[in-house]
Amino acid sequence: MKAYNSLVAILFMLLISCSTSTNQSSAVDKKIDSLLREMTLEEKLGQLNLPSAGQFTTGQAQSSDIAKKIEQGLVGGLFNIKSVKAIREMQEIAVEKSRLKIPLLFGMDVIHGYESVFPIPLGLSCSWDMELIEKTARIAAQEASADGINWTFSPMVDLSRDARWGRISEGSGEDTYLGSAIAQAMVRGYQGDDLTANNTIMSCVKHYALYGAAEAGRDYNTTDMSRHRIYNEYFPPYKAAVDAGVGSIMASFNEIDGIPATANKWLLTDVLRKEWGFDGFVVSDYTGVSEMVDHGYGDLKTVSGKALAAGLDMDMVSEGLVGTLAKSLKEGKVTEAQIDAACRRILKAKFDLGLFDDPYRYCNEERARTEIFTAENRAFARSVAAQSFVLLKNQNNILPLQKKGTIALVGPLADAANNMTGTWSVAARFSESISVLEGLKKAVGDKARIVYAKGSNLHEDASIEERATMFGKSLNRDSRYAQVIRDEAVRIARNADVIVAAVGESAEMSGESSSRVNIDIPQLQRDLLNALLETGKPVVLVLFTGRPLTLTWENENIPAILNVWFGGSEAGDAIADVLFGDVNPSGKLTTTFPQHVGQLPMYYAHKNTGRPITEGQWFQKFRTNYLDVSNDPVYPFGYGLSYTTFSYANLSLDKTELAAGGSIKVSVIVTNTGSREGAEVVQLYVRDLVGSVTRPVKELKGFKKVMLKPGESRAVTFTLTESDLSFYRADLTFGAEPGKFHVFVGGNSHDVLQGEFELK
Ligand code: BGC
Repeated sequence: MKAYNSLVAILFMLLISCSTSTNQSSAVDKKIDSLLREMTLEEKLGQLNLPSAGQFTTGQAQSSDIAKKIEQGLVGGLFNIKSVKAIREMQEIAVEKSRLKIPLLFGMDVIHGYESVFPIPLGLSCSWDMELIEKTARIAAQEASADGINWTFSPMVDLSRDARWGRISEGSGEDTYLGSAIAQAMVRGYQGDDLTANNTIMSCVKHYALYGAAEAGRDYNTTDMSRHRIYNEYFPPYKAAVDAGVGSIMASFNEIDGIPATANKWLLTDVLRKEWGFDGFVVSDYTGVSEMVDHGYGDLKTVSGKALAAGLDMDMVSEGLVGTLAKSLKEGKVTEAQIDAACRRILKAKFDLGLFDDPYRYCNEERARTEIFTAENRAFARSVAAQSFVLLKNQNNILPLQKKGTIALVGPLADAANNMTGTWSVAARFSESISVLEGLKKAVGDKARIVYAKGSNLHEDASIEERATMFGKSLNRDSRYAQVIRDEAVRIARNADVIVAAVGESAEMSGESSSRVNIDIPQLQRDLLNALLETGKPVVLVLFTGRPLTLTWENENIPAILNVWFGGSEAGDAIADVLFGDVNPSGKLTTTFPQHVGQLPMYYAHKNTGRPITEGQWFQKFRTNYLDVSNDPVYPFGYGLSYTTFSYANLSLDKTELAAGGSIKVSVIVTNTGSREGAEVVQLYVRDLVGSVTRPVKELKGFKKVMLKPGESRAVTFTLTESDLSFYRADLTFGAEPGKFHVFVGGNSHDVLQGEFELK
């Protein structure tokens, strides 16, 4: 009876909360209806317009061209303006001078933190820690909203399996399952439970869709793939963000099926709205609308009309919608209902953010002074950075280092505070980031001596170096001969006890429009590494990179490699924390590190083919392989070492047959077999042996991060249900198919224990 009563109570509460939210939304709908009735066609089109405001500075705003447009009601939002004062000034024009006083949205690329910068997304994903990731988004939202921002163009959830593509740095790697979990954590972090709160912001998941599968890894390039692959592998992270309630979505630059995503009705309406039930708004990417002219899809008027009809609501920068839709309406190419629907969605977002109640909700100068780049947020960023690092090699336990003797710090990234935050950190205070040199010096105090020399420029080719150090991230190219710069470093290294080489990519060597065909560490820096090895002193490679690099030579020759990605504003301190063992590294790769660029695209969840190579073999004639390199990666997905070691034993399944609707428990005993406390990411993979469409050789279906004391053993248990085994078939129906499955558990995608069960 008691249970029944509480059930009734719960149902009643649910009913009340549903009807309250329906009432609220119908009240908002009514407000929007009446606003729409009052709006002229031009004002409606104005809401669909998102011009760039990058160059504004306070004071100029009032008299700028944009200000006039805002006053005329021709602007729906602005983006990438930094400072609460400048934002307030623009908002004032909208709500005090425009006829209908509709507030503006203020967007920004708050991608991995605001002023307190966290690791680049690819690095952050290597923490495999959803709470941590959510908290980074939460803090980013708090800082950004304190500075006037109410909308972020994040998360980027484009799956990528091609390290040539520079924007692989902005996503969460190659895996569908992990990428989906991270997408949700980020959306939750930004938007919180209450979007109207002054410290939450609207999230915009991007770039919808398949942007990370650009042919040849060349940015903005064509994508083309089968429907079942799209649904099984590439769509889930976007859908996960939609399921988490993301408020907006950004169309990608690329075309799909010969139609640019920005005007792709199948994508923007059939899938996004009808299948997934998305009710937020869709924004184009930067000039995504006008770029369709170059795609060969029509003139500006034509492509703008097609985009609207396909389901695009807001036009970033092109001014195609605001500039041409009135004419298209007259010509009968678009309908007023389509314009109203887009305008309604933008207005709805403004209501959802609470901007109609208080347009200055995010314009509190006191918050801007006290809540940004705080000691607390920076301390958190430091600990997050350390958790994103991946220890790739540690021969003879060279690491951790001791705080004693002389440590030679060498390399173009060693004293480069302005590069620590990596790509897409528009709000960062570059010069206040902690460099490796500063971090190491602070960490050792007077216990050890740190000697420094640059040792080499970033790249042998000055023009490549220039392209890779844009946006205020110069590495101050040294004009002396390479040999002279190198010799200087070798001299100090010879007298040191250990050498730390901070080498790799610069911050802007990955990111947008930074594709590479050669993904080695630049030769000039390899020459430096070689010269350092010749001193006979132990060399620790601290690797900066925004993508997987080909580390075949380094893996063979350098005794210790710590991949630090771009760790954010506090990277230097975090690197010291890990190098000296104050933090035990626990990051695991979320992207495969190939041996050779020619293996790309490369990913663990590949298909078997009809001619798979025998495990452990390099070459077999008439099998799936290369003449000149084995199929293996240098480091597989999920890989990462620790200062301690872990063993896996006793993989057990609670049953061998899984009935429809049932579940199966998979357990393993993980033991810390080393002498330090450490965290291990335990990973579970599944293989469906036979399917109506062929299935990957392994797919991640679960992971748990456990902290174990030296000698401690723990049973780690996963539960698998039919839905974990389900997939999209050729006809796009979704479900699991009876038959045998292999299940694997281990500390990376390669070294695993194996079990088997059958789905009945
Ligand atoms: C990028 C987007 C970004 C936008 C706005 C574009 O070039 O592709 O990721 O959000 O610019 O800055």
